[in-house]
Amino acid sequence: MTANPFIAEPGHESVFTVSTPNLKFGVGALAELGADARGLGMTRVALFIDAAVAMTEPATVARRALEDAGVDVAVYTESLCEPNSASFEAAARFAAEAGVDGFVSLGGGSVIDTAKAANLLSSYPDEILAYVNAPIGRAKPVPGPLKPHIACPTTSGTGSETTGIAILDITGVGVKSGIASPRLKPNLAVVDPTTTLSMPAGVVAATGFDVLTHAVESYTARPFTSRAKPETPAARPPYQGATPFNDVGALAAIRTGGRYLVRAVTDASDLEARYHLMFSATLAGLAFGTAGVHIPHAMSYSVATLRHEYVASGYETLPPMVPHGIAVVVNAPAAFRFTASVNPDRHLEAAAAMGVDVSGAGDAEAGEHLAGAFIDLMRRTGLPNGLADLGYGEADVPALARGAYAQQRPLVMAPRTVGEADLVGIYRDAMRYW
Ligand SMILES: NC(=O)c1ccc[n+]([C@@H]2O[C@H](COP(=O)([O-])OP(=O)(O)OC[C@H]3O[C@@H](n4cnc5c(N)ncnc54)[C@H](O)[C@@H]3O)[C@@H](O)[C@H]2O)c1
Ligand SMILES: [Fe+2]
Repeated sequence: MTANPFIAEPGHESVFTVSTPNLKFGVGALAELGADARGLGMTRVALFIDAAVAMTEPATVARRALEDAGVDVAVYTESLCEPNSASFEAAARFAAEAGVDGFVSLGGGSVIDTAKAANLLSSYPDEILAYVNAPIGRAKPVPGPLKPHIACPTTSGTGSETTGIAILDITGVGVKSGIASPRLKPNLAVVDPTTTLSMPAGVVAATGFDVLTHAVESYTARPFTSRAKPETPAARPPYQGATPFNDVGALAAIRTGGRYLVRAVTDASDLEARYHLMFSATLAGLAFGTAGVHIPHAMSYSVATLRHEYVASGYETLPPMVPHGIAVVVNAPAAFRFTASVNPDRHLEAAAAMGVDVSGAGDAEAGEHLAGAFIDLMRRTGLPNGLADLGYGEADVPALARGAYAQQRPLVMAPRTVGEADLVGIYRDAMRYW
């Protein structure tokens, strides 16, 4: 490898691709939803809306904008927070019976993913496992184009409005997996930061850490040039590793997210903080949509599924579960301590972007600086102190590591090769941070 990680050695990948979504961002964007729906040829839409969001002003604005443009609206508010096979199937039945020619989703990642799945399963009916990623499912390709979908996020988190993935808990199996296809990508993302003003503080914190981990994982991912040159352009994977394109958005998202997260959590009326956090969620979505994520996300799936006894602040009305952003960030400090030796400069740059003074720091301190930046923000936003606070102990570590090791798609993006024994060590380190 040459000093510049993006200049490929012979035989290695030297080209990256960027598939950006159509995106509209800004205060007032939701009021233009009718014109956007019409522009995509929609005449009758399934409006998938989060039940909590349905009571808010932005929901009224969105619905009125569609109806004023002459678009019929069939409303669905039954999406499950952190959806599963059964909730995806119920949503698909609704979409099939409603006889719609388009989808609009207004909610967090749970609602947007539910709309993606309902669009797929009502357009090309099959059992859900047919489409779920292998080896859990059969990874059947999406047979053809789907109906148009406009996704409007109401959390500053997942970036699902820009991705071709729908994530679900596989009912009865106790694992999280996904359905992935470029055809699932919404045709348009409409991001209006005013939707986030009603988010409870705990949800801002959990979803905000999803943003920071998307950005830092994609910034520290192995470079796209570390892969072998593909046989054909079509063989290029959707998640390519770090590229100069995703670096720009990732670093900006780390800087902005780091600066505004605490303010956005502590003051619901701070529109400036919530605006910038929403923009960093969008930037981070674009960054990880190209580069991919790695160890903290790979570890999150078993954290989210193995035990259900934790009730996070802001999620009290739901059955006990670990929200996605928390399931990811509890692993982050330990994971970055593990990866930093391979590309310490990038770990230091990420720590500096989060506001840490790294002047004079040597390579050996990079992991600790980045871990410390996360731990500081976790403490200031009331997050759990590691896996132990979620109810996990030493006896759970082998099962956690086994579950994470099965997540090879993100693991291969890690800058450092990671085996099951390494994951055991990282989970142990993630038990307690302060
Ligand atoms: N498809 C993807 O690319 C992708 C990426 C990462 C995560 N995910 C998935 O997304 C889901 C998590 O989504 P999320 O973190 O955005 O949260 P969410 O959609 O699960 O919502 C979290 C909670 O916040 C409430 N809420 C959402 N917006 C609100 C608002 N504006 N005001 C008041 N309450 C609000 C919801 O009712 C819910 O109780 C998980 O299933 C995760 O696996 C998907
Ligand atoms: Fe995530």
